[in-house]
Amino acid sequence: MREEIRSVLSGAESIFGVRERVGQWRDAKETIALVPTMGNLHEGHLSLIRLASQHARRVICSIFVNPTQFGGGEDYTSYPRTLQEDKKKLGAQGLVDLLFCPSERDIYPLGAETSVEIKVPGLSSELCGATRPGHFSGVASVVCRFLNITTPDTLLLGEKDYQQLLVLTRMIEDLKFPVTVVSAPILRESDGLAMSSRNRYLEVRQRKLAPRLHVELEQIQKALRKGASDYHLLESEALRSLKKVGFRPEYVEVRRASDLAKPNGKARRNELVVLAAAWLGKARLIDNVRA
Ligand code: PAF
Repeated sequence: MREEIRSVLSGAESIFGVRERVGQWRDAKETIALVPTMGNLHEGHLSLIRLASQHARRVICSIFVNPTQFGGGEDYTSYPRTLQEDKKKLGAQGLVDLLFCPSERDIYPLGAETSVEIKVPGLSSELCGATRPGHFSGVASVVCRFLNITTPDTLLLGEKDYQQLLVLTRMIEDLKFPVTVVSAPILRESDGLAMSSRNRYLEVRQRKLAPRLHVELEQIQKALRKGASDYHLLESEALRSLKKVGFRPEYVEVRRASDLAKPNGKARRNELVVLAAAWLGKARLIDNVRA
């Protein structure tokens, strides 16, 4: 295992530098995997990197807090930027060949507001997209650029952002990117809370309460596995009990896992996913379980 990051490319020459390195790897017939992140790395990200290293000879990790996926009033400016710590974690893990940390100017030379946007209709406008208009377009727009810069064989994405996973998979299929998407299961803290950079916004009391979101999803999962088919009832019970303990839920929904369509009562159990987004203090938590 390499106990370091082979190279770190940031700033004005970074896109050129990445292309040069990727070209050398291609000449040597080496495969490449990309793990895109916004930094503030935790075990969930490191598990994606581990999986990436099992799929390709070379691993690129990107760290870029992408302005176009944050709405007005969201946490773009306060989003945790912890590059030095991130580099230490990646170095200790020793699996990343290239860390790519472009600036906003590198990625959006014309300015974030006036750059070319990628839209993935339908899927992008519901669930998280309903309360975060433009969010998935921002995600698709930046990942499209990262795919063009790094030309990976494999793209690693976490299943915690399940809607993001489907949006990006659809973009990749529709725009014919020659890349395979590999998804990694959600990593959880010992009490069940899904790992997330935003968990650090939770105050002590809220942190104790936070796993309740997962508990509610598991209860729906259990009911579905026993044959329950009144999805609306299950959803509204979960919403009610989340509100009662102090969450501000945005949604709890049973959806078809393949395309997030609302299922009819005849959907088979393993075709379903239960998704939720809820605020607890300043933290917007998302989670999902397959049913
Ligand atoms: O999941 C994330 O961290 C981001 O949405 C991504 C995929 C890195 C794009 O900015």
